[in-house]
Amino acid sequence: MTLKQIQSLVRHEPITMLTCYDASFAAMMARSNIDALLVGDSLGMVFQGHATTLPVSLADMIYHTGCVARGAPNSFILSDLPFGSYQASPAQALESSAALMAAGAQMVKLEGGEAMLETVSFLAARGIPVCAHVGLTPQSVHALGGYRVQGKTIEDAERILNEALSLEQAGANMIVLEAIPAELASRISDLLAIPTIGIGAGPNCDGQVLVLYDMLGLYWGSPPSFVRNFVENGVTSIEMAIQAYAHDVKTRRFPAKEHAF
Ligand code: KIV
Repeated sequence: MTLKQIQSLVRHEPITMLTCYDASFAAMMARSNIDALLVGDSLGMVFQGHATTLPVSLADMIYHTGCVARGAPNSFILSDLPFGSYQASPAQALESSAALMAAGAQMVKLEGGEAMLETVSFLAARGIPVCAHVGLTPQSVHALGGYRVQGKTIEDAERILNEALSLEQAGANMIVLEAIPAELASRISDLLAIPTIGIGAGPNCDGQVLVLYDMLGLYWGSPPSFVRNFVENGVTSIEMAIQAYAHDVKTRRFPAKEHAF
């Protein structure tokens, strides 16, 4: 799977994405109709047991990206730039991105709007595919005052919409929309040419992503309300749950109304 193939799915069928942190799950996803594997820094919470994603290091992300790439050598893999590995300067972001790509990522993901425009355009000009991430950006959890739905006021919705447009103009090739009202995500998806991948952003994005451990009911914390546990209704294996997720995203059965804001 290549970026071009992922982009060609837009307006034909929803893109399926899950977070992935190891080789065995990666191999399972590769045979289960998951279009893209995100080595998310959510691994800091669900895998390492931290309260936030902030303690995740670049070395952690390189290690897990390598594990995933070995398990799914033909899958499209994007990896999160962890907190503190890209915000200082575009040059710092380039160095960190190069390390993730050397480990097996085809794209890097970074969080933020306005402040990231220069970095996105710097990376794009140097041949690094970039996925932006707006709305609820977990690396800013302290600045946001918690894991809260974003874009609920007219001003905040306009800000997020403008950020998404500017990130596309700066050269982002994909964008994650997290925990924003479904109507706002729908507007952004209509206006942008690049794929929008929603998580808690309603059914009208070009694709969906969930944290693997949340959709398998493995995370010991309380998962957000937009998560569905796919180990249900006669699902007797993890592989069946992943296939059910892929099927329900592709057929637009997930997310349902109760998973949106
Ligand atoms: O780290 C992660 O898992 C993510 C998803 C929540 C999109 O960024």
